Amino acid sequence: MSFSNDLLTWYDRCARVLPWRGERDPYRIWLSEIMLQQTQAETVKGYYAHFLVTFPDVMALARADEQDVLKLWEGLGYYSRARNLHAAARIVAFELGGAFPPNAEGLLRLPGIGPYAANAIASIAYGEPVPALDGNQARVLSRLLAWEPVIKTPFDLLSPALALMSLDRPGDYNQALMDLGAGICTPKGPRCEACPVSSHCSAHAEDAVLEYPHKPAPATKKEQGLTILLMAMNDKLLVRQRPKGQLGGLYEFVAVEGHFDDEAALSAALSARGFRGVRLIRPLPDAKHVFTHLVWRMWGWLAECDGAPEGFIAVNSAQLNALPFPSALRVYREIAEGLKKGGKF
Ligand code: ADE
Repeated sequence: MSFSNDLLTWYDRCARVLPWRGERDPYRIWLSEIMLQQTQAETVKGYYAHFLVTFPDVMALARADEQDVLKLWEGLGYYSRARNLHAAARIVAFELGGAFPPNAEGLLRLPGIGPYAANAIASIAYGEPVPALDGNQARVLSRLLAWEPVIKTPFDLLSPALALMSLDRPGDYNQALMDLGAGICTPKGPRCEACPVSSHCSAHAEDAVLEYPHKPAPATKKEQGLTILLMAMNDKLLVRQRPKGQLGGLYEFVAVEGHFDDEAALSAALSARGFRGVRLIRPLPDAKHVFTHLVWRMWGWLAECDGAPEGFIAVNSAQLNALPFPSALRVYREIAEGLKKGGKF
């Protein structure tokens, strides 16, 4: 039997049970694929169901406020996905008459849909025979073929991927490869003894599965130091909305670039930024958040002030709860919750 036949026979028996499986509605398939781009299926399940209760179709999403979309996305990370989702929904609803583009090429023109998502959606929703090449599929195929070249992008494997894929059931084929990559052909501990296609696998025949894929040397991540202040003013907490760009549209606490050993220096930096009458109360725990290309190292302070620069708003606990914050600030958000319970604001 061919590779794709063996793979699909296994998929028919062992496919993961996931809420978007068997779905034909392009809106729901699109939503699942965007959520699944940087997030594991187990985590996505709950967000997916919750999102669809609030926004059951593309019209509902197109009419929503961006704030409400971001709020539902809170905790999933990579918020540009949510902003692009909203922008794409508006295009589909108001410019394309409510109908999703009917093929991968058209889907690719929507914000937030790259070659991977376009192919995943088109294969699952429309049966278009295009491979959903992401890091997982590239890993599986690189092992299957004992692919020697360094893989810079998964689409380096486009031509063998097209040659291997099932033309009868491309959506199932792509999802079978996703399941194989998630549960069997995993990065560090592949379970070749349980693999339905090990007889086709060149790396397995060479007993060299862990040597593939060949990856470029990793780039070192830039580190950014930030002092985060839970700053109270008139018994409320100061926050502001981040401008466009990284984490744009989400909220943040008062933050100053860098680390201050010396309290006088931190107070001076805050005055220079327009905070008046600052009183540093006590240090808060350190935190670290790793983004794709950047690491935030954070040092916390609890403080009070009498005046804040433009752009900051003072919120009470109920208002704080309703605002979307990035996961990177979770530690400080949780401390703020604790202060709230302690009746501090
Ligand atoms: N990862 C990306 N797309 C997926 C899908 N449709 N099913 C499971 N995992 C996925």
